[in-house]
Amino acid sequence: MSTKGVRDYRPKLHFTTEKGWINDPNGLVYENGNYHLFYQYYPHDTKWGPMHWGHAISKDLIKWKHLPVALAPDDLGFIFSGSAVYDSENTSGFASFGKPPIVAMFTHSCETQQQSIAYSTDGVNFIKYEGNPVIKNPGIKDFRDPKVFYNPIRDSWSCVVVAGDRAHFYASQDLIHWEKTGEFGPEGNRCLGIWECPDIFPLKAPNGEEVWVLVVSMTIKREEGGPKTQYFLGTFDGDTFICDKPFDGIEWIDPGFDNYAAMSYYGEDLKDRIIIGWGSNWVYAADTPTNEYCGVMTLARKLSLVDTPAGLRLSSIPYKTLGNIAGAPTIIESQKELDEEVFGLRIKANGEFSIVLSNENQEKLVFGVNSKNEIFMDRSQAGDNSFNEHYASNLFSNVVKQRFFSGPITMEAVFDVSILEVFADKGTFASAQLVYPTKPYNKITIIGDAQVYYYNFEF
Ligand code: FRU
Repeated sequence: MSTKGVRDYRPKLHFTTEKGWINDPNGLVYENGNYHLFYQYYPHDTKWGPMHWGHAISKDLIKWKHLPVALAPDDLGFIFSGSAVYDSENTSGFASFGKPPIVAMFTHSCETQQQSIAYSTDGVNFIKYEGNPVIKNPGIKDFRDPKVFYNPIRDSWSCVVVAGDRAHFYASQDLIHWEKTGEFGPEGNRCLGIWECPDIFPLKAPNGEEVWVLVVSMTIKREEGGPKTQYFLGTFDGDTFICDKPFDGIEWIDPGFDNYAAMSYYGEDLKDRIIIGWGSNWVYAADTPTNEYCGVMTLARKLSLVDTPAGLRLSSIPYKTLGNIAGAPTIIESQKELDEEVFGLRIKANGEFSIVLSNENQEKLVFGVNSKNEIFMDRSQAGDNSFNEHYASNLFSNVVKQRFFSGPITMEAVFDVSILEVFADKGTFASAQLVYPTKPYNKITIIGDAQVYYYNFEF
């Protein structure tokens, strides 16, 4: 196991594994009060390797309990990304002593990629189905990352699997026997790259209309800004997705660099659509200067649809707001000494403003709104960037996004040791950013017309 960092960069509010490498969240499923988080995991090094599914559970999406590895590689290959459902009606027949199973669907990856299932009735130990794979490879190199969902039109299960430059849809009554029902793409997609980690779910628009959201992570080349997760709005007709609410450009789940492969929770009893992403980037993830672990998940975010002057857009806000998880706020008058490495900020501002987090080593992380009414998060001088030339380059330093709105802005920021998440404008801006200050930031400075409230977390 390599050690790389000069200090402990492990966040406290964000999920990390005890040791080893993690990438995509997998199998997000809620059952009987438990949020399960499975994840792409290589326990034996802090770099990507033969993929396992790691496993943790939480009651509140903040405190996690680590559980044993759920799925390990076997003769059919590595265990790549996928999803899970709680099969409360035992459609699969995998129940045991009256206990319904969690059924996980994942990609077995070796020379070929195919979809397999595994089940558990105790929520910890998983048994791989003996008839795997359940969806054979149809002759496509990149064919992976199945996301299972309830199909209300067929009253069946469906799953979406990405296949090169498009998505394939399948339906099943029992999670074992699958038939193909349709495809979406490449028409309608304006972004080059291999499709990865799809997700699909309905949300209510403010006018009450049901709109389906298709999420696809894109392997965009480094020179073109690196991997990012886009979304489409439209309809699901029971067989496939139809993009009948196209955008003029491309819309991202997060316009920054450190949120990939985001996936939402499956849960019959869940009122909210909750999503978690991998808070890193394939371009530099393996070089990030953490020690015994590598990789972090974003905070759980709640999704909804909001009207903006540009039309209907997806909004992401922290699932647990500062008011839920932090103590009572104090107001900051232009400057404050910081003695915590984890804190929240609520900001009400008008026009151009900056929030500067700085330390004794002249490092500073700056975010706010610039003179062009763009939200920015600038990490170019935020700390150690010697570990990877691309992380240090202009292309990966500054998140900049034009606001959908003009006038006053409300922003919420959570800073957690080495990751900043900023949410603004009803969640139409939401971005995570990794930073490695060589000393903790000990000062916050407010520049411009902004009222800033400071929130402390108790651990
Ligand atoms: C996305 C991805 C998936 C794949 C997994 C492998 O980050 O490339 O498509 O299943 O990672 O770890």
